[in-house]
Amino acid sequence: KRLILVGPPGSGKGTQSPIIKDEYCLCHLATGDMLRAAVAAKTPLGIKAKEAMEKGELVTDDLVVGIIDDALKKPSCQKGFILDGFPRTVVQAEKLDEMLQNRGVKVDKVLNFAIDDVILEERITGRWIHPSSGRSYHTKFAPPKAPGFDDVTGEPLIQRKDDTAAVLKSRLESFHKQTEPVIDYYKKKGIVANLPAEKPPQEVTSEVKKALS
Ligand code: AP5
Ligand code: ZN
Repeated sequence: KRLILVGPPGSGKGTQSPIIKDEYCLCHLATGDMLRAAVAAKTPLGIKAKEAMEKGELVTDDLVVGIIDDALKKPSCQKGFILDGFPRTVVQAEKLDEMLQNRGVKVDKVLNFAIDDVILEERITGRWIHPSSGRSYHTKFAPPKAPGFDDVTGEPLIQRKDDTAAVLKSRLESFHKQTEPVIDYYKKKGIVANLPAEKPPQEVTSEVKKALS
């Protein structure tokens, strides 16, 4: 399967991704995770992306399209993929169509994580992540076994720099202005499945499986 996960910050894309990935043996391409890794490693890409990310603005289309174009070449992505956080602008969606056309494949389903903005601040400010695996926790909704440490490796968890109430405002603004039109773009193609993303994680998972069956 070739899937796109779209939804506002904190809607649960990163939480559901590993589950979908294991169920359908897909590769998980999260542009946010890839960009954060580039920023941490101070690569040329990371240096270009850092400022926009810290302000909660989108990085330029060229940068992310380049990352995805490279990633889609990986052998592990040939059977199928989950795009988490891409495309986020209509230009990115059009470029993706081009890339896939060249490979003779197309997107099967767009999972739209629909949720009201007011729920998101609590989710975002309570999130803790394990940077090397991408696993995420929540102090209230998904606490780790030992507070502050990853369940699997025991390594320390961190908070994302953009996970503040102030930066969330601008991330939400980018979502409504630039990413909501992407949902309409795929609605016209008839491949969008709306998920009730405000429900508990397990219920969202069963809705995902329903949408993909
Ligand atoms: P990115 O990393 O993609 O961030 P985002 O879209 O803001 O999404 P999040 O990762 O915050 O939310 P999520 O839906 O994954 O939530 P999660 O499952 O962790 O992008 C970061 C930045 O990179 C952007 O601002 C931009 O600058 C740049 N960027 C990335 N892609 C780009 C692109 N294509 N173009 C341009 N720029 C780009 O859940 C959140 C919390 O809630 C967790 O603690 C979790 O445990 C909890 N939770 C999850 N589900 C539930 C539930 N059902 N009930 C209760 N709690 C839950
Ligand atoms: Zn995420």
